[in-house]
Amino acid sequence: MPAASLEQVVSLCKRRGFVFPGSEIYGGLANSWDYGPLGTELKNLLRDWWWDRFVRKRQDMVGIDAAIVMNPKVWEASGHVANFNDALIDCKQCKARFRADHLIEDAHPGTKVEGKSPTELTAIVAEKNIPCPTCGTKGQFTNARTFNLLFQTQLGAVEGEDNRSVYLRGEIAQAMFVNFKNVLTTTRKRLPFGIASVGKAFRNEITPGNFTFRTLEFDLMEFEYFIEEKDWEQTFDYWLEEQQAWLKEIGFDPERLRVREHTKDELSHYSRRTADVEYLTPFGWKELFGLAYRTDFDLKNHMEQSGVDLQYTDPDDAARKFIPHVVEPTFGLSRLTLMVLLEAYDEEKLEGEETRTVMRFNDRIAPVQVAILPLSKKENLIAKAQEVYKLLQGETDLRLDFDVTGSIGKRYRRQDEIGTPKCITIDFGTIGEDKEQGAQDTVTIRDRDSLKQERVKISELTRKLQ
Ligand code: GAP
Repeated sequence: MPAASLEQVVSLCKRRGFVFPGSEIYGGLANSWDYGPLGTELKNLLRDWWWDRFVRKRQDMVGIDAAIVMNPKVWEASGHVANFNDALIDCKQCKARFRADHLIEDAHPGTKVEGKSPTELTAIVAEKNIPCPTCGTKGQFTNARTFNLLFQTQLGAVEGEDNRSVYLRGEIAQAMFVNFKNVLTTTRKRLPFGIASVGKAFRNEITPGNFTFRTLEFDLMEFEYFIEEKDWEQTFDYWLEEQQAWLKEIGFDPERLRVREHTKDELSHYSRRTADVEYLTPFGWKELFGLAYRTDFDLKNHMEQSGVDLQYTDPDDAARKFIPHVVEPTFGLSRLTLMVLLEAYDEEKLEGEETRTVMRFNDRIAPVQVAILPLSKKENLIAKAQEVYKLLQGETDLRLDFDVTGSIGKRYRRQDEIGTPKCITIDFGTIGEDKEQGAQDTVTIRDRDSLKQERVKISELTRKLQ
């Protein structure tokens, strides 16, 4: 298990400005959260790392940035209008609504719910006499009914007049399929290659979701990797390894990661094989990333429905035309941000009775990398600390913080809680007002994890920190 409970992380996120409840001053909105200054930085750093590692640094990958509202025909061709459904069930007593499969799984873990129809799920709820998790009443559930997860909205300026229903995208993948030909002709890529994208997806999720784990809108990073059909198995294995390799680079403990294959009943309508990379959260093993072999399902359907030829022509044999197959690694960015917060959280007993909370972020994603702390609010200490700040700002790309509020102990605790790897303290030695010889123009660097302090010359600071 991670060191943290979900409540501890939620509380730290609010306290330090990682994540706030959405629309909080109006009482919030179910499943809606806003990222604060540090959470935004963390999520963007993860996104940028992903883009750099999987797109920019690879010759076989290109990126696009596509519209959220697409022609509704896209979602008919992709099968989402017909198949992107959850079976929901209501308590007649208190009117609470639940996903029928989640209701059963929570009450009786291990019960087989995958692939069951709404009628079958209703029968299981009745047979096991499951109580309503909200009001405790038994035997008062409605029949389970199918709800589509796509978010509908209206296009058009005048309410009620000739407006068109459209969907906010339920996955970002479809833009990569409908732009396949545009990308192919403009980049002249050869198979195998991938089209990547990052952005928001929207799903009308009913069941509330463990903080930011399951929300109505969330950030995804994914690519469609186009291949010849014969290569799908080795490509699938390769990307499964790569997804896990990146998680280890971020600093995840492999003991808290595992791969779970979807059963046949569980597969999405487009997938022939799916594997989830799961993380051990305080609320059990949960999907972090997904990997699906989508065959030629999407390109074939879009070709049929749009009438546009989406085939690939073998550059070495113009007579050989075919629809590429696709392996799709999906990285939920919002979910990754939550799991990084859970994984980084630690509490440590210090000498005496004191306990410190510390976020052990990898340096590359720590929202603040170096904090500059004058020992007190004395004017000449602040002036010297500003000098050090400006020096590092000019000579490095480090993410800096400058903090004078509160005692030095409190400021160290705050920097530990936001995961700052190094604190630089400017003290009386630095400005030559200490009896200690040779301390002038030196500062102390404090390491977040070892708590070791080291005296360093300001002239050597840049080299030392980099
Ligand atoms: N294009 C494939 C696709 O979207 P998915 O399994 O439906 O696949 C991909 O979702 C990832 O999106 C999941 O692995 C998870 O990280 C994230 N995800 C799905 N639903 C979510 C929700 N309601 N809130 C937050 N993240 C979600």
